[in-house]
Order: sequence, then C-alpha cells, then structure tokens
Amino acid sequence: MNFSGKTAWVMGASSGIGAELSKQLAEKGAKVILSARNENALNEIKHTLKNEDLHFVFPFDLENTSDVDSKVSSLIGKVGEIHYLFNNGGLSQRATAFETQMVVERKIMEINYFGNIAVAKALLPYMRKQGGGKIIVISSIAGKFGFFLRAAYSASKHALHGFYESLRLEEEENNITVHIMCPGKINTDISKNALTESGEKHGVMDHNQKTGMTVSDCTNEILKAVEKNKREKLIGGKETIAVYIKRFFPNLFYKIIRKQSAV
Ligand SMILES: NC(=O)c1ccc[n+]([C@@H]2O[C@H](COP(=O)([O-])OP(=O)(O)OC[C@H]3O[C@@H](n4cnc5c(N)ncnc54)[C@H](OP(=O)(O)O)[C@@H]3O)[C@@H](O)[C@H]2O)c1
Repeated sequence: MNFSGKTAWVMGASSGIGAELSKQLAEKGAKVILSARNENALNEIKHTLKNEDLHFVFPFDLENTSDVDSKVSSLIGKVGEIHYLFNNGGLSQRATAFETQMVVERKIMEINYFGNIAVAKALLPYMRKQGGGKIIVISSIAGKFGFFLRAAYSASKHALHGFYESLRLEEEENNITVHIMCPGKINTDISKNALTESGEKHGVMDHNQKTGMTVSDCTNEILKAVEKNKREKLIGGKETIAVYIKRFFPNLFYKIIRKQSAV
C-alpha cells in the first residue's frame, strides 16, 4: 500500500514532525486529515499543502477523549475510509521525577498514552470493516530507556510499546499493521513545548533539539519505514546507538547514559 490516493490522519499536525508528515504525505498524493488543538495553525499548514482543497482540518484534543467514538464516527462520515493513522501528537517533560507534580505526571500519560490509544481504538472497527489499515505510532528513544528530566515522558512512551506490540499481534489477522517509530534528537519545538514540574511550558530550545536531525529527514525516514512495512525504526543520529548498547552491554550503557546532557 503506498500513499497516493489514500487517506492519512495525522495527529499533532500543527507543528514539528506532524506538520512535516502532512506536507510529505500531501506531496505523495495522500488526502491528509490534520488534527491537533491549534486550529489556526492547522489551517495555516493546510494552505501550504499540495492539493490544498483535498485535505481536511479536524481539531482534536488528546487530553479529552470521552467523546472520541462520536468524533471518529463523524470524521469517517466526512472522509469515508482512513487508511493510515499517524499517532504523533504528544508533549515532553523537562523536570525531575522528584519535583514533578502528580497532576503533570497524569497529564503527560493522558495525552501521550491514553489519548493516543483512545484514537486508535476508536478507529479500529472502521479499519477492520474496510479490510485493513496502518497505525503508525511516534514513540521515542525515550520509549527504549529512561533519561534525565523525562520520567513521565519516558513512562508514557514505554507504555505505548507494550500496548502496540500487543495490538500488532492481535490485529495482524485483520490486515491492520502497527509501525512504531522511535526518533532520537529531532530539531522541532518539542523542548519549548515540554512541561515543567508545575505544568508550565519549558519555553527553551534545548541544545539537543537545535543540533538534532532535521524534521524533514526524520519524516522522510518515517515514511520510508512505513512503505517498507518496518515494525519498528530508530531515527536520528548517534544517540540511537544507545538502544543497541543497552541491549547488548547494559553496564556500559549505564556508564555512558549518566554522563549525557539532559537538555
Ligand atoms: N522532536 C524530538 O526530538 C522527538 C523525539 C522523539 C519523539 N518525538 C515525538 O514526536 C511527536 C511530535 O513531536 P514534535 O517533535 O513534532 O514536537 P512539537 O513540535 O511540539 O509538536 C507536538 C504536536 O503534538 C500536538 N499536541 C500536543 N498536545 C496535544 C493534545 N493535547 N492534543 C492533540 N495534539 C496535541 C501539538 O499540537 P497542539 O499544541 O496544537 O495541540 C503538536 O502538533 C511527539 O509524540 C514526540 O514525543 C519527538
């Protein structure tokens, strides 16, 4: 299945990786549904897409998914089938576990994990009915190991792996495939939008982000991995090697990771 003539729902399309996914998917001939909270930003991005009139802005807040079934039902009513779900919306953290308030722990889990899986679960019956689909989950290398100032964020991404590895096994017979992407350091506003211990925006472009992979290279890698049906893909620079070091040399991994800068 390639992207031309297909419909792709991009969560978190108002910024960073999601905005670039929308652009590259439109260039490849897909109809894009752009979702996030910031409707103005979504409309601005839609105006820049190839075949602008084909695409569709659908505001969505991952923190409030009590009506997700009716929202997805109305979306399907408008667009017909959805072939790809890019479950990319999320936010990071810049605070120690010691200082992070419980309300912030819960907010990060609600958006990055519960909101994410609620969307996938609401869409599954339609994907089954149409004979299949692809769910692309944007996790992180923080879904592979914990890191300074990221306890809640890392927990939310680890949770996605448990859920989606199980879902992958269960839905294979329904021709629904799951692709988990694990970016490392990517040059987006994620550190600016990350939450502090009290839930404020961190507001700082971290060195790690500024010097990270470009968002267009990251997105290109994501789409190539989906086209090749990769179950999982690490994306980024040399930071991604840490995942292999952890797997094969866990003691060495700990010696290296404790010396890395958190920002
Ligand atoms: N950049 C990196 O280095 C990096 C590394 C690993 C993984 N990732 C993952 O990549 C994904 C995209 O991040 P990014 O780097 O592109 O950061 P970003 O520029 O901050 O974009 C985050 C996107 O998520 C959306 N979002 C946040 N809260 C939401 C909510 N409650 N409901 C709906 N959408 C929400 C934002 O839209 P609104 O604010 O308009 O709602 C925005 O579109 C995230 O899942 C992140 O964890 C990024």
